[in-house]
Amino acid sequence: MKNHSSHRAMKFTESVIREMTRICLKHQGVNLAQGFPDFPAPLEIKEAALRAIQADLNQYAITWGEPNLRHAIAEKFAWYNGVTIDPEAEITVCCGSTEAMISSLMAIVNSGEEVIVFEPFYENYGPDAILCDAKPRFITLHEPDWHFDEQELTQAFTNKTKAIIINTPNNPTGKVFSREELQFIADLCLKWGVIAVTDEIYEHILYDGAKHISIASLPGMRDQTITINSISKTYSLTGWRVGWAIAPASLTGSIRKVHDFLTVGAPHPLQEAAAAALRIERSYYQTLVKGYEERRNFLSRALDEAGFRIYRPHGAYYIMTDVGHFGFSDDVAFALHLVEKFGVATVPGSSFYSRSSLGATKIRFCFPKKKETLEQAAEKLERFKRDREK
Ligand SMILES: Cc1ncc(COP(=O)(O)O)c(C=O)c1O
Repeated sequence: MKNHSSHRAMKFTESVIREMTRICLKHQGVNLAQGFPDFPAPLEIKEAALRAIQADLNQYAITWGEPNLRHAIAEKFAWYNGVTIDPEAEITVCCGSTEAMISSLMAIVNSGEEVIVFEPFYENYGPDAILCDAKPRFITLHEPDWHFDEQELTQAFTNKTKAIIINTPNNPTGKVFSREELQFIADLCLKWGVIAVTDEIYEHILYDGAKHISIASLPGMRDQTITINSISKTYSLTGWRVGWAIAPASLTGSIRKVHDFLTVGAPHPLQEAAAAALRIERSYYQTLVKGYEERRNFLSRALDEAGFRIYRPHGAYYIMTDVGHFGFSDDVAFALHLVEKFGVATVPGSSFYSRSSLGATKIRFCFPKKKETLEQAAEKLERFKRDREK
């Protein structure tokens, strides 16, 4: 039969992360692949959603977001990120940061323009670049500390560069970009007139004294940055699909147009509840971090004891590991072995790189899970270790 798929759709594969979740369900395993919490979201946010539904907020909200939510986003961006914005003109509420990212890129990138992407990258950025017909230019983050080479980055900026995608704290590496690194990137953006598109959805999940810095807060960058965020990770609400893009008014007009014709808007009652989330008591964030730090330490120990080489994350909720010494043909073979034989689903490292070979010895684990879930995973990893020692 004739293939009716577009060239565009054929240039990328199905999400490996979501595929691993399906394989995990088949083997009734522990899902340490897809980064979503298996513990409840805060009660007061859920109650706010119930109240919004009971108040009959059932119809389309304003396409670029409920005013109450946009005001809550602006208030929080001022206190946490140190940048004052106009909620009327500089925010577009979207269906998660996934839609905020693709709407933003479609709004600014012309066919053939280059977008700089650090790799390993969150797997959506590759297809995002293809969908907006951009040419991705990859810059390696070098292990073990995931630094970039300043000279390599400097050479990547040319007059074809339209944007650079930053993700801090970073998925999958757990890297938190330092002020010096962000300043280096900002200087290049200012020199070449390049837009920084920064995905900051893990901004509260930080360890070992790491500090989150928004590139929009650096001198001169407010008007050259699109900051992407959502309620998914900070408030454990990945299924609600509420996110946003913060951008200068000159870019927001285009982002709103693309967003409007892609999705019209995010769920209205959940936008109201998202406003309540953003105004939650500030002590919530300390409790959140404490919980994640315990989970990180627990899983790191279990992986270490099972023989994995781990890269200790300073932010986000993933642990990147190296499994080259286990002697498998590649990362996919290893990930399938681990889920099919021992019931632990992970993500093969190659899905975070432009060329599979670069991730062929890496495996990513995630840990936004209940203690019991991580304990189950630890038992399965222990079985994996015993099996290897046989
Ligand atoms: C870096 C990063 N950005 C975006 C997303 C998706 O976020 P959302 O649920 O807001 O679409 C994820 C999810 O894992 C992520 O890790």
